[in-house]
Amino acid sequence: MTTLTDVSWTEAPLTRWDEVCELVDRCLETDGGLPLAADLEFMYSRWGSPALVTRQARTAEGELVAAGLLRPGDSGPTYAGMVDPGVRGRGLGSQLLDWGLISGARVVESELLTAEATALFTSRGLQRTFAEDVMCIDFRVQVPQCRVAPPFQLWEWTPGLASRFFEMYEIAFRDRPDFPELSPLDWIEDVAHDADFRPTWSLLAFHPDLGDVGFLTAKEGWIDQVGVMPAFRRLGLGEVLLSESLRRMADDNRREAWLNVNVNNPGAAMLYRRLGFDVRGQRGRFTPMGG
Ligand SMILES: CC(C)(COP(=O)(O)OP(=O)(O)OC[C@H]1O[C@@H](n2cnc3c(N)ncnc32)[C@H](O)[C@@H]1OP(=O)(O)O)[C@@H](O)C(=O)NCCC(=O)NCCS
Repeated sequence: MTTLTDVSWTEAPLTRWDEVCELVDRCLETDGGLPLAADLEFMYSRWGSPALVTRQARTAEGELVAAGLLRPGDSGPTYAGMVDPGVRGRGLGSQLLDWGLISGARVVESELLTAEATALFTSRGLQRTFAEDVMCIDFRVQVPQCRVAPPFQLWEWTPGLASRFFEMYEIAFRDRPDFPELSPLDWIEDVAHDADFRPTWSLLAFHPDLGDVGFLTAKEGWIDQVGVMPAFRRLGLGEVLLSESLRRMADDNRREAWLNVNVNNPGAAMLYRRLGFDVRGQRGRFTPMGG
């Protein structure tokens, strides 16, 4: 069994991304959370800064069992840390977090947030500023069935319809907390220039007399955004958009779909649970209290 004296600490540039991904993978198995977090490309996009500072704990055999990452940013450094489930409860996580905070972290991020991590962050005077449940539906268990009721129609994403998707996004999301003001061009670029974007799973809901009433965008393995105009909510449109997109994913031989839902959005979470999604973990962000 590894004890605290068995591990040696180093502060070193990150050269072995694959090792960190494997560590995240072991953590994900125990903690749940965002499955993408163990993906090399995702890891590199988040943490691939040339100014990245890391603190690493290794066993005598050289195995990486804990790592803290600190990347600079406009509003100060962002910290993330992880400890192999096999060596938890021995203070490694606290040591890493304290190193991050002493090094000036202004944001603490976790894609695999657990109750224990939340308690640790809170004990260091950090407050949660953002949290999402990570949910998954397994098509081997269930593919939601729900047909669009005429006269409503669903149209697939095309470049010609992109600005109408944007208008629906803006109307549906502008009453959400922390709604980001995005120009149509920026939003469309974010959505459609992602290599994982799937236009045939992305749908605009249209009514011949009323016009556009809702939308959904999807990526490989993911429901990205779904929104319905406030005046047309609780009429089953969200359910129709989601079930049609999920059916298309299942018909294209995908085994599952994931989504993130903010913990301050219980209505949407209820809709997802009703369709067969369950919670597989949480992700979150913390900042020092009062700062
Ligand atoms: C979430 C959203 C897309 C739901 O669309 P909708 O068309 O109202 O959803 P539906 O009518 O299909 O809801 C089906 C069921 O889901 C549940 N549900 C949906 N919204 C709910 C809410 N606000 N409160 C409680 N339950 C809700 C209910 O079980 C509902 O069935 P019921 O009306 O018979 O009780 C819509 O509220 C919205 O656009 N919100 C703003 C954008 C947003 O938050 N998107 C999700 C981001 S993760």
